[in-house]
Amino acid sequence: MAEEKGIDATFVDLRDYPMPLYDGDLEDEQGMPENAKKLKKLFVEHDGFFIVSPEYNSSYPPLLKNVVDWISRSDSEDLVEPYKGKTMAIAASSPGGLGGMRVLVPLRMLFGNLGVHVVPSQVSVNFVTKAFDENGMPPLIINAT
Ligand SMILES: Cc1cc2nc3c(=O)[nH]c(=O)nc-3n(C[C@H](O)[C@H](O)[C@H](O)COP(=O)(O)O)c2cc1C
Repeated sequence: MAEEKGIDATFVDLRDYPMPLYDGDLEDEQGMPENAKKLKKLFVEHDGFFIVSPEYNSSYPPLLKNVVDWISRSDSEDLVEPYKGKTMAIAASSPGGLGGMRVLVPLRMLFGNLGVHVVPSQVSVNFVTKAFDENGMPPLIINAT
């Protein structure tokens, strides 16, 4: 959708960037994992982000937090600023009735504390397993605030 609107966007699925759980001793011994370096470079190169997350027990999944933590660290290329001053939008979905809207609160807090401007508008899609047709469009039920 971003590309349709002429936005130069890069789609990232965290599944494509496996990395170990953050461990300071591991970092001291081996430095930043290669996939964390790749993701950090992407964050540094982009002006803004649109993060779509599932909700785990009212919060963000450990996968997302682990990536956020790794790429907040300095690396050998010394790309130090992946977050500060960037702009971000957030969205969630879940198979349940709340559409993951509770994860949007900690997500907003996490990135706000990293110096990201999280725009006030946000989206959650409930009953997500029924929300899209076989072509992936259009969403039937969207909660936008
Ligand atoms: C550990 C765990 C906690 C979950 N907690 C919530 C929750 O708080 N709210 C919710 O709507 N769904 C919750 N779910 C259901 C997820 O929304 C659903 O499993 C979703 O498909 C997860 O997306 P993923 O497969 O991309 O991780 C939870 C699922 C797991 C595995």
